[in-house]
Amino acid sequence: MVTTLKLPGPVARSIIERDRAVISASYPRAYPFVMDHGKGCEVWDVDGNRFLDFAAGIAVVSTGHSHPKVVKAIQDQAERFIHISSDYYHEKWVQLGERLHQIAPFEEPASSFMTNSGTESVEAAIKLARYHTGRSQFIGFLGGFHGRTMGALAFTASKNHYHKGFFPLMNGVVHVPFPDPYHPFLLGKPGEPYGETVVRYIEEQVLGKVIPADEVAGVLVEPVQGEGGYIVPAEGFFPALRELCDRHGILLIVDEVQSGMGRTGKWWAIENFGVEPDIVCAAKGIASGVPLGAMVARRRIMNWPKGSHGNTYGGNPLACAAALATIELIEENYLENATRVGALARERLEAISARHPSIGQVRGLGLMLGVEFVKDLQTREPDEHLRDQVVDLAFERGLLLLGCGKSVVRISPPLCVSAAEIEEGLEIFEEAVRLAEEYVRTPAA
Ligand SMILES: Cc1ncc(COP(=O)(O)O)c(C=O)c1O
Repeated sequence: MVTTLKLPGPVARSIIERDRAVISASYPRAYPFVMDHGKGCEVWDVDGNRFLDFAAGIAVVSTGHSHPKVVKAIQDQAERFIHISSDYYHEKWVQLGERLHQIAPFEEPASSFMTNSGTESVEAAIKLARYHTGRSQFIGFLGGFHGRTMGALAFTASKNHYHKGFFPLMNGVVHVPFPDPYHPFLLGKPGEPYGETVVRYIEEQVLGKVIPADEVAGVLVEPVQGEGGYIVPAEGFFPALRELCDRHGILLIVDEVQSGMGRTGKWWAIENFGVEPDIVCAAKGIASGVPLGAMVARRRIMNWPKGSHGNTYGGNPLACAAALATIELIEENYLENATRVGALARERLEAISARHPSIGQVRGLGLMLGVEFVKDLQTREPDEHLRDQVVDLAFERGLLLLGCGKSVVRISPPLCVSAAEIEEGLEIFEEAVRLAEEYVRTPAA
């Protein structure tokens, strides 16, 4: 039984008013949820309303809100020391490097550079790729999201408002279409898998006509596009891209900030496609919400000398303690849970899709699932307005969702989500879809 909440409540309303006076207006607030506390996949707002969280703070709280083992790890570390800086050493930082070496998606030994966010992991990868190859140019993908600092921003191409007012960006990035199988943009040869068409476009049109391959340092790509619409790349893409990179000495850099740390049921989404990258960018789910990122590279590639890159907080002890606890929990339970409960969620979403003509496609891997809303199943024209309605209606019924792409809702709950929570959340989701279809599609009397 789905009930409707009166939102925002009075306490939330007053905090939002105070926020307006003192906090930057640039933050992309989705709806008026003001958090009080959370446990696992449940969160409560300051007026005592309970919600299921299928957004996980943008795929960040991988082990759920305030997992007791993560809380204990942070508490224990806080009592010993909170900070020492990257001019010194401490053991948890080394342990985290050892764990990342174990789980890195390549056979060779790995080295890690710790950061405080996703965008900083991407910045570090850009710098390392330039340093290691001695080349300056890059290839990025339309629809990609890599962060908002000047280097990462030059790659971000999911919406033009990220760039508006901020030119000039870092130069040296050429964007190509992402191999989106639902909205293919290029015309392939008969029988050619669409993923291979995109790589052929890179080779023939970009390398052949714009930038010589021997000036390209790296290709930066999300194995599953996140902000761009939870898009799983078309068949044939990654093997062909890896082959192209190998042939020209170009580094394959995967941005796993959103798709990594078990979200797709494997440590890294790239493992779903049978190729090994050279550099991996991580953040979000790595420390269950404590700000931490990592740029993990093949050790032979991370050949920059002392002083060439660094930061004050890198390897922060609280963040490392949280990350070590997070990795243990994901390894013990949540990789398997993401696969099992992700399959259940996928099945339920497919069934909902069959009942609702506004849903064009359900896609994704593990617990990184996207539902795309369209105006017409044949033309696949995105229905952004209906998607926005679904998100708002779900919120008013106690479910936190976030949009992505033009007209997609992402389902990215904490990796500890239970089957019962999926059933409960998707019941609310379907009710929101039903109401949105009624409001948006029914002609006014
Ligand atoms: C794939 C990807 N890369 C990079 C970033 C940037 O991360 P942050 O916001 O921590 O800088 C994000 C954030 O959404 C992301 O999804």
